[in-house]
Amino acid sequence: MAKLIYSAITSLDGYVADMDGNFDWAVPDEEVHIFINELERPVGTYLYGRRLYETMVGWESAHTLADQPPFMLDFAEIWQAADKIVYSKTLETVSSARTRIERDFDPDAVRQTKARAERDILVGGPDLAAQAIEAGLVDEWHLFVAPVVVGGGKQSLPDNVRLQLELLDERRFGNGMVYLYYRART
Ligand SMILES: NC(=O)c1ccc[n+]([C@@H]2O[C@H](COP(=O)([O-])OP(=O)(O)OC[C@H]3O[C@@H](n4cnc5c(N)ncnc54)[C@H](OP(=O)(O)O)[C@@H]3O)[C@@H](O)[C@H]2O)c1
Repeated sequence: MAKLIYSAITSLDGYVADMDGNFDWAVPDEEVHIFINELERPVGTYLYGRRLYETMVGWESAHTLADQPPFMLDFAEIWQAADKIVYSKTLETVSSARTRIERDFDPDAVRQTKARAERDILVGGPDLAAQAIEAGLVDEWHLFVAPVVVGGGKQSLPDNVRLQLELLDERRFGNGMVYLYYRART
């Protein structure tokens, strides 16, 4: 059975984007990116909210841009090789391969996907991830905390959810980001 992992880069006060929608402070540098590449290499499927998909779909053509460093090309390959499910009521078409649209988030369908999948599944976009967390579907958390407080915006974790977590690993990076790897306590 595959694990469902929530991954996000968040401010210290728990936001993935500030009140103006900016998240330039969350862009990983080379060291963090190389680390993320290794975390995401085994991922077989991404579950995306439409907004995060619209940010990530640039990776479909990242290899065609001039002067991309090897760690970016590596991530583009990892991303392109995985399946993607985009949750959206508005998106009409997708602009990446191995991608399909789901019109509703059905926890039972995700449970079945987890049971069938041989490779782990990553959920992203806090709105979508909140639904997976509330449904008790998330097994592990990969959180990168950026050294910034932004005072408000889009929360990385939903309100009104209580979770007991076990810290499995952590790592600090030269740019001040910290990686926290948790598992749900059962
Ligand atoms: N910190 C970082 O590293 C980082 C990286 C990238 C982006 N961001 C920012 O993160 C934010 C993403 O926030 P978000 O929570 O709005 O994004 P999200 O979860 O990626 O996307 C939300 C959208 O997903 C669709 N959706 C969610 N639940 C659904 C359901 N049950 N059924 C069908 N469709 C569903 C809806 O799309 P429709 O409206 O199409 O129905 C909804 O508007 C943005 O502000 C983005 O700029 C941060």
